[in-house]
Amino acid sequence: MKIDILTLFPEMFESVFNSSIIKRARESGKVEINLYNFRDYSLDKHNKVDDTPYGGGNGMVLTCQPIFDCVNSIKTDESIVILLTPDGKVYNQTLAYDLSTKKHIILICGHYEGFDDRIRSLCDLEISIGDYVLTGGEFASMILVDSITRLIPGVIEENSHINDSFNDNLLDYPTYTKPRVYNGMEVPEVLLSGDHKKIEEFRRNAQIEKTRKRRPDLLQK
Ligand code: 6GU
Repeated sequence: MKIDILTLFPEMFESVFNSSIIKRARESGKVEINLYNFRDYSLDKHNKVDDTPYGGGNGMVLTCQPIFDCVNSIKTDESIVILLTPDGKVYNQTLAYDLSTKKHIILICGHYEGFDDRIRSLCDLEISIGDYVLTGGEFASMILVDSITRLIPGVIEENSHINDSFNDNLLDYPTYTKPRVYNGMEVPEVLLSGDHKKIEEFRRNAQIEKTRKRRPDLLQK
């Protein structure tokens, strides 16, 4: 899988993509990540990437030309072009699974006060990571890359995402490790029983109970 990211702030991604599981996935060739500063594609003599909004209003608006030229120079028939924007489709684990099967993902990070609306015509999909506003799409891009990369076969142990929260629209069950008692808090007896059928039943019930209490909206699905 190849992920290309268009951003005016490539340095923001440095430590995130050079740590932990993403670092390992890149080193093993399971994911290739490239950062494109679309300012480099500006045809303006001062490399301008924004301008004032038609009709008036506050702030600067990202112009079409640098982003169109950058995307058009890197996209192929196998690419999916995604715009990160608070008015996009709200991201979830189902979308993460879907994107983890793609060959080539292009992520466009908006910034400043906004972008020329015609940039949407370049994109196959618009994604928001939740109902709040960020200063730009960079953090949202990192969240997509992280959640997608861990689902690429061989990046983490297959079993560790079978049990993820949100699979089957249920939250994860509680886990424990040694010691059996810590500060008077005990590990549920059933987990020490060695009875796998009982343990499975306990975990399933705990998932349902936890989801009912914390996220009844998920059970509606
Ligand atoms: Cl993708 N971008 C920005 N700027 N704000 C957001 C977002 C994206 N998702 C939620 N808020």
